[in-house]
This record gives sequence, structure tokens and C-alpha cells, in this order.
Amino acid sequence: MKRKVLMVCLGNICRSPTAEAILRSLSLKYQKKIEVDSAGTAGYHIGEQSDKRSISHAIKHGYEMNHLARQIHTSDFEYFDDILVMDQSNYQNTLKICPNEFKEKIKLISDFDPTKKIKEIIDPYYLDSTAFEQVISDLEICIEGYLKKLN
Ligand code: 4NP
Repeated sequence: MKRKVLMVCLGNICRSPTAEAILRSLSLKYQKKIEVDSAGTAGYHIGEQSDKRSISHAIKHGYEMNHLARQIHTSDFEYFDDILVMDQSNYQNTLKICPNEFKEKIKLISDFDPTKKIKEIIDPYYLDSTAFEQVISDLEICIEGYLKKLN
């Protein structure tokens, strides 16, 4: 059985499409059957390609991003098995629109950090290239932790 995972951030142009690309790549390495997509809680960038800075940092690390931004939809809560959010604000925004029966599917991606040092995936949008690098390295740690916990 394939596990269906939705990565969620605010704009769906920086963190969650990066997380989507990393999970797609690492699921092959760990031989886990995963279907992955990403979405934003906001609709500011619907239909846009990912942020050029995210794309170029991802390429440097061997990850390919080709997602077009979309907003999370009610039907996502039924379809996906795990809904992994990047920060507390995403968590609250996602919880607010999630039907009660699916609320347990929503998890902070940092909960899968085995070192317990990562509290959130920082929003790099108004920050410099160091932040974009940190997004990738923190996501790699959390996503490896997530994959290792899967049966
Ligand atoms: P993301 O980053 O949530 O990681 O995609 C952001 C992208 C756009 C905006 C904020 C955060 N924005 O305000 O437009």
C-alpha cells in the first residue's frame, strides 16, 4: 500500500514544495511506497512555480522541484494519510479547516526530528540564502526520521 503524504506551508512556493521534492527522492532511497503532494494554507501564489531561490538551493542538493502552487482543500483531509505542516502557524490554520474526524492526520514535521532540536521549519521567504539552506538541511533530518518510522 502506498502512503499518501501532503506537505503544507503558507504560500506553497518555498518550504512545502521543497519538502515534497525531498520526500519523493528519499522515499526511493528508503524503498518506501509514497505518493506526495504539497499545498499552502493561503492562496497568494496559486498556479505559480516555486520560488526561484528554493529551486536553486534544491538543485544544489540534487532535488528536483516542478510543483505549481495550490491551496489546501477540504477533500485533501480525506485523501491523504499524513498531513505534515512546517510550523505552528500552519498547524493552527490547517486544524481550523479540517473536519474533526481527520484532525489526527495533521502533524508538525519537526515531530519526526530524532534529535529533537528542530522546533519548526523556518519561513525563509523574507530571509537570505542561509535560511533556504537551513530549510533543506532541517527537512532532510525530519523526513529521514519520518521515513524510518514508517512500517
Ligand atoms: P512558504 O513561504 O510558506 O514556505 O511557501 C512563503 C511564501 C510566500 C509568502 C510567505 C511565505 N508570502 O507572504 O507571499
